[in-house]
Amino acid sequence: MTILAPLRGVTIRCFREVFAEQIREAGFTEAITPFLSANPGFDPLMDRELTRFHSPTPTQTSNSLCGSPSLRDTIKVTPQFIGKDPESLRACLLRIKEAGYDTADLNCGCPYPMVRNKGRGSGLLRTPAILEKMIAVGCETMGEGKFSVKARLGFDGNDELLALMPMLNSFPLRFLTVHARNARQMYGGECDWEAFRKVAAVAKMPIVANGDLPLQPQKDGEVMIGRAFIRQLGMRDDIGELLSKYIDASSEELCGPSPVLGRMKELIAYWKDLLRWKRRWPVIKIARTLDELRLAY
Ligand SMILES: Cc1cc2nc3c(=O)[nH]c(=O)nc-3n(C[C@H](O)[C@H](O)[C@H](O)COP(=O)(O)O)c2cc1C
Repeated sequence: MTILAPLRGVTIRCFREVFAEQIREAGFTEAITPFLSANPGFDPLMDRELTRFHSPTPTQTSNSLCGSPSLRDTIKVTPQFIGKDPESLRACLLRIKEAGYDTADLNCGCPYPMVRNKGRGSGLLRTPAILEKMIAVGCETMGEGKFSVKARLGFDGNDELLALMPMLNSFPLRFLTVHARNARQMYGGECDWEAFRKVAAVAKMPIVANGDLPLQPQKDGEVMIGRAFIRQLGMRDDIGELLSKYIDASSEELCGPSPVLGRMKELIAYWKDLLRWKRRWPVIKIARTLDELRLAY
């Protein structure tokens, strides 16, 4: 199994629909959505990540859920949640189940201080009692083998997840994705594959490896890949055409050109060191209109 990593602002629903063919060609069988907040009162079906047209009732929305037909037919979409309130998580999971999603994932990896210092994302690794309740609610609500966890090796160090494994092993998790870094490292520095192997050695659930993995057929084990896939898109001959499609689809979805420009720049920034984009990036970075952007690629 090769899973498309959640990259907030990048591997969003609109992206997955426009790039559905490239996602499939690259061998992905599943995508985890960028995180949705499991906060009190939040209805995940009101988020465009899960529902194309905002609608108050699930029956009205059911046809537009789970991705476009082309993506839905071939690659599974699993919503990911971030939070620390088990009852809010339960409410969110019940809503997505109503809409036809049969799996869900818990974010225990987000490293941003604003998130982790409030006990969410990787902050959950520091509050095992809350983490345990979140996972219990996840497994209970989604059912055995339907709820997964995405975590880092630790908060400060690389052995914190290992210490939590007896607790994690007590749940019927679908899988545990391990990003082989700790939260202090954010997205840089080396991955620690030795620490990863220690976790994998004691894990009772399937383990999905994540962190700087190249986009190539994986010989063994299950993997999650994010940035390597995004980077190679910038090398495609047809990337101009694909970008134009993405601009059009984003313009339909968002209000006004500014957020569309922001979305495009966030994606193209992954390519700024590639030969084809090196000279174009400085122009793209300061483009103020979609026409200026289109002229630059
Ligand atoms: C811009 C960005 C946004 C991310 N958003 C999420 C997210 O919403 N949920 C999550 O679990 N991980 C998120 N991640 C982490 C990735 O899913 C992944 O764990 C990390 O990028 C390492 O994998 P890679 O080297 O294959 O990209 C994000 C990473 C980046 C760079």
